[in-house]
Amino acid sequence: IYRAAIFDLDGVIADTARLHLQAWRQLAESLQRPWADDTEEKLKGLERMASLEVILGEESGNFSEEGKLALASRKNSRYQELISSLSPKDLLPGAGELLAWLHERKIPIALASASKNAPAVLQALGISNYFSHIADPEQSAPKPSPDIFLAAARGLQVEAELCIAFEDAAAGVAAIKAAQGMTAVGVGSESALGSADYIVGSLEEFAPKDFFLPAIRAAA
Ligand code: G6P
Ligand code: MG
Repeated sequence: IYRAAIFDLDGVIADTARLHLQAWRQLAESLQRPWADDTEEKLKGLERMASLEVILGEESGNFSEEGKLALASRKNSRYQELISSLSPKDLLPGAGELLAWLHERKIPIALASASKNAPAVLQALGISNYFSHIADPEQSAPKPSPDIFLAAARGLQVEAELCIAFEDAAAGVAAIKAAQGMTAVGVGSESALGSADYIVGSLEEFAPKDFFLPAIRAAA
């Protein structure tokens, strides 16, 4: 029986992973950098500057630190344009229902997203009120370090072992698995998220009563 739920945002709750990818892809094209078959999976969950390194690849050394910051900020401006039209209909299947179910039962919920845009996205989706704690990505080492998930558990004052966490990225599942006994639910495909404890195609397939409520024992 778990006592708290911790969520990644992009690609788990909100259909925004594709918007990050769209903004990165535009930047890659403008720099004439290749976009390989595995670029999308690699970028998922990666913090902004680490994502830029994936885009720049072997050309990374040709850019100054200021140049890189300018490129990252160009991507972020494009991303912010893309999220400016988000609304509750951009919640992924099952996300709103699961959050409401947990909230009704007073099961505390935290966010563990690498995105500095996360508070704005929660606001636009109309779900900020469900979160008791939002872990600050600027205070945590990037995924696959378990840091941000441990910070989320601390923020809720629930032991890591009693938290179940949801991720769509391989780096995120690795982070959860390294977080002192936390349980990982991979949201997506078995091939990318094989090391998760459970895998669902979407949050719609996750049955919270099997994880959060004590089993009703038959009378002896
Ligand atoms: C999440 C997304 C990544 C994104 C990262 C940083 O982890 O999955 O695609 O690069 O956040 O987001 P930010 O909005 O701070 O650039
Ligand atoms: Mg994600």
